[in-house]
Formats: sequence, structure tokens, C-alpha cells
Amino acid sequence: MSTPTATGSRPTTRPASPLIRHPHVDDGAQMWRVARDSVRLDLNPPYAYILWARDFHSTSVVAEVDGAVVGFVTGYLRPEEPTTLMVWQVAVDRSQRGQGLAGQMLDELARRTGAYTLETTITADNPASRRLFEAFAARHAAQHSVSGLFATEHFPDDQDWKPEQLHRITPLRTTARSHHQPGVDARARSHS
Ligand SMILES: CC(C)(COP(=O)(O)OP(=O)(O)OC[C@H]1O[C@@H](n2cnc3c(N)ncnc32)[C@H](O)[C@@H]1OP(=O)(O)O)[C@@H](O)C(=O)NCCC(=O)NCCS
Repeated sequence: MSTPTATGSRPTTRPASPLIRHPHVDDGAQMWRVARDSVRLDLNPPYAYILWARDFHSTSVVAEVDGAVVGFVTGYLRPEEPTTLMVWQVAVDRSQRGQGLAGQMLDELARRTGAYTLETTITADNPASRRLFEAFAARHAAQHSVSGLFATEHFPDDQDWKPEQLHRITPLRTTARSHHQPGVDARARSHS
């Protein structure tokens, strides 16, 4: 959006604030594109993101700017431990990185699900992801433990895979104030 300056001489551009909301089926293809463009994520077929947006929409969020999906968090509540939110994938479009958006989405998802514990798995060579979850744990004043999860023999031997560690963050202060990043979350909006 362009707005005139006080002098009225030159317009300034004000970036649109991200809208954080639960995904719907129409978002699945855009979520797949964000995942594909992240390069780092294991890319699932588009069908997986569309199905996820249908069946796990209440435990997932997308961030939307000007009608486009620019980030997402996919998660589910573990059937045998339903107070635990397992975060499957997090991605933010390059144009929106470094502004606290991934942290805002995680905070919003924790608040909406009321989860007591958050789990995720991260490869050792992903410092951005590690820092994202370390900062999340700190904001929630929660304990953050890291352990192994799956072993080599769980994976097909003809596939190249990187070991991931299980990060468990608990207990969550789900009603705590949300992630604060000046100039960003002040504008962030959310609705369901
Ligand atoms: C990981 C990712 C989601 C972070 O998104 P983002 O919106 O830029 O993250 P945020 O701005 O909320 O930053 C969260 C924290 O991580 C830190 N961080 C972000 N990018 C970083 C990087 N490249 N290296 C180190 N730390 C980084 C931030 O400084 C911040 O820490 P702070 O709160 O102490 O300042 C984004 O880089 C991405 O989409 N990467 C590709 C996909 C991926 O690896 N997903 C995670 C595995 S599922």
C-alpha cells in the first residue's frame, strides 16, 4: 500500500502485515510451493499439503500477505499424547524471513491448540531451525530437551537421509504474551 508522506511529495511503501490463520484446502498448493522453494525441507507431494490442510487444519497455521501464503507451520496432536503438538514442517518464504514470522506462527499455534508440550525433529545442520525452537522455548520459559528418535535401520537403505534429533519443549505457557518483535507483531493479525 502506498501512502503520501507528510509533505505529500513522495509515496512510501508500507509492507502488508501477515495474517496468521488456520489453512483450508485452497491453501494446500501454496503451502507446497513455499515448502518447495525453501529447498531445505523434505518436499512431500502437493497432495500431502492439500490433505493436511483438510484434516489437520486446526493444528496448523499459514501466514498470508496480500492474499498469498508466505509461510506455514504444519502440526498434529499426538494421538497417544493429545496435549503434545508435534510440529511437522515450518517454512517461511525468503522475502519474509528474519522478521519473526516463524516465531509468531509457532506462538499462535501453541496458543490456539492449548498444547502443553511441543515436539519437533531437526537435523543438526539447520541452525535457523534450532534457533527458532530455542527462542520459542525461552519465550515460554519451558524446558528444552534434545534426544534421538529414529535410528538408521528405520529408514529404507537405498535412500539418502539425514538423522534428525527430537526437540521436546515443555511445559508451555500457552496463555503467555505472544512473541514480540518491534514493528512486526504489532501489525500481525490473526483470525481463524
Ligand atoms: C527456519 C525458518 C522457518 C525461520 O523463519 P523466520 O521467519 O526467518 O524465523 P524468525 O525470524 O522467527 O527467527 C526465529 C529465530 O531464529 C533465528 N534465525 C533465523 N534465521 C536464522 C539463520 N539463518 N541462522 C541463525 N539463526 C536464525 C532468529 O534470529 C530468531 O532468533 P531470536 O528470536 O533469538 O532473534 C526459515 O529460515 C525457513 O523457512 N527455512 C527453510 C525451511 C526450514 O529449514 N524449516 C525448518 C525445519 S522444519
